[in-house]
Amino acid sequence: MLSTREIHKHNNSHSCWVVVDGQAYDVTEFLDHHPGGANSILRYAGRDATAEYEPVHPPGTIEKHLSKDKHLGPVEPETQGDSASTPIVQYDSDKPIPLSTVQNLTEFETEAKKVLSKKAWVYFHSAADSLNSLDTNRRDWTRVNLRPRILRNVARVSMRCRLMGHDSSLPFFICPAAQARLGHPDGELCLARGAGRYNIPYCSSTYSSVAHIELAKALAAQEKGGALLWQLYVPTAQEGAKQLISEARRLGFKALVLTVDTPVIGKREEDDRYKAELDHAAGLTVERTTSTTGEAPILRGVHSSTLCWDDLSWIQKEWGNTGPVVLKGIQTAEDALLAHEAGIDGIYLSNHGGRQMDFAPSSLQTLLEIRRYYPHLLKEMEVYLDGGVMRGTDVIKALCLGARGVGLGRPFMYALSAYGTEGVCKAIQLLSDEIETTMRLLGVTSLEQLSEFYINTAALENGIVKRIDVGASGSIVSKL
Ligand code: LAC
Repeated sequence: MLSTREIHKHNNSHSCWVVVDGQAYDVTEFLDHHPGGANSILRYAGRDATAEYEPVHPPGTIEKHLSKDKHLGPVEPETQGDSASTPIVQYDSDKPIPLSTVQNLTEFETEAKKVLSKKAWVYFHSAADSLNSLDTNRRDWTRVNLRPRILRNVARVSMRCRLMGHDSSLPFFICPAAQARLGHPDGELCLARGAGRYNIPYCSSTYSSVAHIELAKALAAQEKGGALLWQLYVPTAQEGAKQLISEARRLGFKALVLTVDTPVIGKREEDDRYKAELDHAAGLTVERTTSTTGEAPILRGVHSSTLCWDDLSWIQKEWGNTGPVVLKGIQTAEDALLAHEAGIDGIYLSNHGGRQMDFAPSSLQTLLEIRRYYPHLLKEMEVYLDGGVMRGTDVIKALCLGARGVGLGRPFMYALSAYGTEGVCKAIQLLSDEIETTMRLLGVTSLEQLSEFYINTAALENGIVKRIDVGASGSIVSKL
């Protein structure tokens, strides 16, 4: 008879014994063959697994799968019933749950809220006016369904693709979002490290709270690869933009992502309210102007409000042939066409995470609009998008409609806030797993196979604008 002490010694993956119905078994070699995964046995390593085992296995299962020499014989009675169930640990509700238990990107927001300062939370979380753009972003993904094809060999799947001049392992990138050090002392370094480790692009913000040179160093330190893209806000003084572009070139950033939806900063009330409360407490008053004669009101006028199509040529010239130039913030088919006519390499459909214009179209709506009115643009330009992307299925939906890649902003900010670099890596892993699983369930093995035939957008089609301004193109572009 085997003693409890002896059984307890074999409590790991190198030597794993379990007790079922008073009999001990050596399941070490079987661990990797268990259909339910090794961990579901390892949780009971060195203990009695009867209560867990019995309700889910027909009688005779052990005998069928284990050779006779792995049957070690009867155990002394006190071992039986020993720790037959693993108690689920209750976590502190005011601390982030263990990272290993996070299952999807939505959970990072819940966990980040537990650790973020009010200042950080309102900055990351806020969106424009009545939050319609923010809500539409998320809702529109849920209004598109998938059309899985069956009986195809999907054993091997590749998610490789070329994003903004980079051979990426996965079809998504980290969006520009400013001031990551509000969330974590390492700030944007976490994003650069994650992008490097998983070989995806990271588009850092003009307002990165870590110097761009440090991001370049952090990326270079990762063996796998990754790429840095430079998001550019054109400041009110043109000279400032030239300096930023030259820095981007010097540091080896692969693409220039020019944000074009921000002539003024949107009215983000959660953020504005917090600042007003601080001002009120400090006895300060803020003068609000309703009109100006020069550039935009100070309150919202950080960027150039004069930036227009004519400026693209000097920006392209400064950047040279360093890599693609992509316009971020395209929200209509008309502007997609203008971008093409201006010789831009790529368009990035975005309503800035719902932080700029309220009642703006979601990037999905803009994509459908382009497909209806100027479908050739999808072949002639690289198309990217962001906004409300939380799931691998969202990424696949965008790719089915012709996008090359998809960006995510807030989920990464929340992941780094709650868990630092490891949180960013976990977010990438979760999304990668969801995309891969979706591809297999859809019946495709590479991203090029995705097409409109894998999705149903009927619920959104009615919402596509009935007429567009076809006259706009010639008149504006002829002035370029
Ligand atoms: C924002 C700007 C800085 O959305 O991109 O906060």
